[in-house]
Amino acid sequence: MSELSVNHLLGIKYLNENDIQLIFETADHFKEVINRSIKKVPSLRDITIANIFFENSTRTKLSFELAEKRLSADIVNFSAAQSSVKKGETLIDTVNNILSMKVDMVVMRHSNPGAGIMLSKHIKAAIINAGDGAHEHPTQALLDSFSIRERLGDVAGKKVVIVGDILHSRVALSNIFALKLQGAEVKVCGPKSLMPKHIESLGVTVETDLRKALNWCDVANMLRIQNERMDVSYFPNAREYTKQFGLNMSLLNSLDKEIVVMHPGPINRGVEITSEVADSSQSIILDQVENGVAIRMAVIYLLASKIK
Ligand code: CP
Repeated sequence: MSELSVNHLLGIKYLNENDIQLIFETADHFKEVINRSIKKVPSLRDITIANIFFENSTRTKLSFELAEKRLSADIVNFSAAQSSVKKGETLIDTVNNILSMKVDMVVMRHSNPGAGIMLSKHIKAAIINAGDGAHEHPTQALLDSFSIRERLGDVAGKKVVIVGDILHSRVALSNIFALKLQGAEVKVCGPKSLMPKHIESLGVTVETDLRKALNWCDVANMLRIQNERMDVSYFPNAREYTKQFGLNMSLLNSLDKEIVVMHPGPINRGVEITSEVADSSQSIILDQVENGVAIRMAVIYLLASKIK
């Protein structure tokens, strides 16, 4: 199989296990390319990609832009803050205007869950979801699994705990789908107030004791508290949260085994994770960022090869 089963990357929910393996094998190749002295390939010289970001981003936006440039695609960047969206233009009108400039692919981040799904029903271009509200962040989950595979050899059979603000996290949902599809065991850990109802229906178990969760796992993915998505208080204060769910060096060193520590970024240093842990040899946070470029090159390349 050398083709994805989908024409868009709207969420991990729409992928199968073969799609993930194909993306990883393609990313292996591109990772080798971006570590050469000449980091560019001419693969997408005839493809134009619009990066449309309605929400802030550092890693994802830069990573997509770099991936597109490494593939020699033409790119246009759109940031809602400086656009006619501020004058009341709708999402579909905005995107259709961009597409009439002959754009083949749209990479979109939007605060509304399902924004990419809605768009895919109205426009012809291939769409990549770069994060839609608290719904999915598929390329983040792909780069997370790719980084686990790189560090531990495989994702199947590994025990992964996702810690923190599960309720507001698109990273958590996409990671759960991706990890389960590859045969990992998944636990979620955090305050009850930040745990979605019926989360067990996704095939994960819930643990509210961080030490127990860490002693169980091979990998801990520490999530950021998403203050920007909270309209009420979900825990007393940041200090209380850190006491119960923060990862520091003394906790890490007291565990039964050496675990791998991940974080999707941006990090609230000293809240969900201390600087010492983030910068330790057990942390693969910067590997995740590096792998993001190779994963996004793979996704763009595979979707572009399906454009008629
Ligand atoms: N991990 C992630 O999505 O980071 P950004 O919000 O900076 O893109």
